[in-house]
Amino acid sequence: MGRAGAIISAMGLSSVRSVVRFGRLETDPVRRRLARAASVADLRLIAKRRLPGGCFDYIDGGAEDERTLAANARAFADLQFRPRVLRGLGSVDISTDILGRQATMPLVLAPTGFTRIADPQGELAVARAAARAGVPYTLSTLATRSIEEVRSVSDGRLWFQVYAWRDRALVAEMVQRAADCAYEALVLTVDTAVFGRRERDVRRGFSLPPTIGAGTIIDGLRHPTWTLAFLRNEPIRFANVLGRSVGDGSSPVNLSDYINSQFDPALAWSDVEWLRSIWNGPIIVKGIQCVDDAVIAADLGVDAIVLSNHGGRQLDGSPATLGLVAPVADAVGGRTQIICDGGVRRGSDIVKAVAAGADSVMAGRAYLYALGAAGELGVDTLLGWWREDMRRTMSLIGAGSIAELDRSFLDL
Ligand SMILES: Cc1cc2nc3c(=O)[nH]c(=O)nc-3n(C[C@H](O)[C@H](O)[C@H](O)COP(=O)(O)O)c2cc1C
Repeated sequence: MGRAGAIISAMGLSSVRSVVRFGRLETDPVRRRLARAASVADLRLIAKRRLPGGCFDYIDGGAEDERTLAANARAFADLQFRPRVLRGLGSVDISTDILGRQATMPLVLAPTGFTRIADPQGELAVARAAARAGVPYTLSTLATRSIEEVRSVSDGRLWFQVYAWRDRALVAEMVQRAADCAYEALVLTVDTAVFGRRERDVRRGFSLPPTIGAGTIIDGLRHPTWTLAFLRNEPIRFANVLGRSVGDGSSPVNLSDYINSQFDPALAWSDVEWLRSIWNGPIIVKGIQCVDDAVIAADLGVDAIVLSNHGGRQLDGSPATLGLVAPVADAVGGRTQIICDGGVRRGSDIVKAVAAGADSVMAGRAYLYALGAAGELGVDTLLGWWREDMRRTMSLIGAGSIAELDRSFLDL
């Protein structure tokens, strides 16, 4: 009798039946992958396995020594709650106001360029998932799906992120296209006067769109699913500037050369006024990194500021954004909405940022890892986790609604 037979005869068949449960075998590979993931860290590892090294590093990496990238995450890890108990909370409401409209939770999906390197559907998948979850999605100027394509798949809240091209007529044209497609707000990114030095990309000679050539062939062969999808789908292009003289990626570019030659390093506060002259809706300034600039933005009457160091991808040595929230809220809270961006990996991080004084958060890499790991279903899963994380965290700290969250719940 084999070992299994010995166990069965020792236990008796009926007691074996009472402890053995065979779950349904999951045949769908995407669901099978997701079933093994419980956190953003898990999704990151799956994405790392599935994407070619150059693509994963482009998403995952930061500038220079990646100190600011690490500081963003460490700030959340180091900030502890001050939980209150026995407060008689029946239920928890995580819905909130973002730019005067109801959102299901205080979250906006951040703009990320070249999203199709994570998954062929790219920005379309993320916009659909955001709409289903009831949170705004911000489309990047450097998206790989156009303003119009994204609107055609989503009736949700869409924001458009603006980089200041030297060619201002091009910016004005994009802004008009966003207005024609009922985008709700413009997000002017101001931390990219020049391109940050992302050393992982420098080492790999990474270009966008990615190329398969002598240097990358092995990487491509080691990730056959990604490579086949890349070859089978239409070429990855800078979809908002297709066919334009600025270059649409039909010849692969080194992103640093591209941005340094195309974007205007002389962008100034007066350009916020210029943007207002060509756009009727809300204006958000993304990339504020100190209290003084937050005050200037609030004085100019912008609708929201995003405290952001571009996820540690621009100036290495910029402070962690979570640490800016309380001083900025003290200086300008109530005059402009405050969005905290960088390092958000859990729903409890969202709760911390809001308790510190932010109106909402933005997150970038977390949804790119989800997309790279499991496509659109991955993003749905992530947003579901964060909804549950927020409810659970708020129950455990004794806060029944977003309005109740304040610094008394933090060990500041
Ligand atoms: C791969 C990638 C591409 C990005 N592209 C843009 C962009 O085109 N425009 C922009 O304003 N910010 C861009 N960002 C920055 C994000 O909007 C956001 O500030 C950052 O991801 C927040 O940090 P987190 O990734 O830790 O959430 C990008 C970030 C990543 C990771």
